[in-house]
Amino acid sequence: MADRILGIETSCDETAAAVVEHATGLRSSVVASQIDRHARYGGVVPEIASRAHVELLMPVVAQALVEAGVADHEVEAVAATSGPGLVGSLLVGVSAAKALALVWDVPFVAVNHLEAHLYAAFLEEPDLDLPLVVLLVSGGHTLLVHMEDHGRYRQLGSTVDDAAGEAFDKVARYLGLGYPGGPVIDRIAADGDPEAIRFPRAMRDQGYDFSFSGLKTAVVNHVRRHPEAATPDVAASFQEAVVDVLVAKARRAARDVGAKGLCLGGGVAANSLLRSRFIEASEADGIRAFVPSRSMCTDNAAMVAAAGWWRLRSDGPSSLATGATPNLRLPLAG
Ligand code: KG4
Ligand code: ZN
Repeated sequence: MADRILGIETSCDETAAAVVEHATGLRSSVVASQIDRHARYGGVVPEIASRAHVELLMPVVAQALVEAGVADHEVEAVAATSGPGLVGSLLVGVSAAKALALVWDVPFVAVNHLEAHLYAAFLEEPDLDLPLVVLLVSGGHTLLVHMEDHGRYRQLGSTVDDAAGEAFDKVARYLGLGYPGGPVIDRIAADGDPEAIRFPRAMRDQGYDFSFSGLKTAVVNHVRRHPEAATPDVAASFQEAVVDVLVAKARRAARDVGAKGLCLGGGVAANSLLRSRFIEASEADGIRAFVPSRSMCTDNAAMVAAAGWWRLRSDGPSSLATGATPNLRLPLAG
């Protein structure tokens, strides 16, 4: 059984490699962010991202091995994100992982990026009890997942329009705050009044799906009508509306499915207000909450290696004919 896994993540604008043992033993995790290369364009430029992955990936892999104190011949499997994500970026990681697996004569495992996010929490809290409800909120995805068992997921809800992180990024761009929008809104909201403006909470108490595009439009309309509105107040009120809906749905889902725990994942899980409200709500409901550290919430390769370990155990190695699948969905229980 292959236990020492090299993970590779290149689905968007982070070039990352990590070494993990037995799904939860973190030996190293190296992340080279490309944010500086994309910031001036106000978002990720796919062509720049794939070129940067080509440049950065092998040095990042080498660093992950050195930091783990693991020699090439001690790697027992190579896992890489094969989707969802940007096709050119994914191909860099998948091609490199297949080449390394071939040279080292070890299994290659293709990993679903969303499944990898679900596994991030286990790296820091190996004893999490299943079933769990996981709220996965990133720049590309907003999912509420019922994790019944390892590899057994039911999707309870998703966004019908913008992802939560996308809403943060678009509102920040409109307010002239730069990219990425989440961290800057988080920061300036601390100086604003979250009750200054009552923005809409779409479908807050109905079902498990999300919608954020109406909220984004409401922010734009408000600022047009009230150009004097203080930006920190707008940011804080917007953030309050997003977090209110996310937490309300996640806690209701956990109650409805009888989950033992409630977990956060994805880049937006780095948000300070979301983190504190999530924990408060879980405590109030008597359910165990787990909020991974910020570096484990954002894209990294440790979670890819962890999910790869489980996939290798359940499905065996992936074919070397595996390519990149930009629209890959979370594998759902039948
Ligand atoms: O998971 P991630 O690193 O990349 C993918 O989209 O897969 O998530 C990036 C997203 C961006 O939209 C960014 O604005 C958002 O996460 N984000 C935040 C915060 N930090 C990152 N959103 C709100 N508050 C934050 N502190
Ligand atoms: Zn992600």
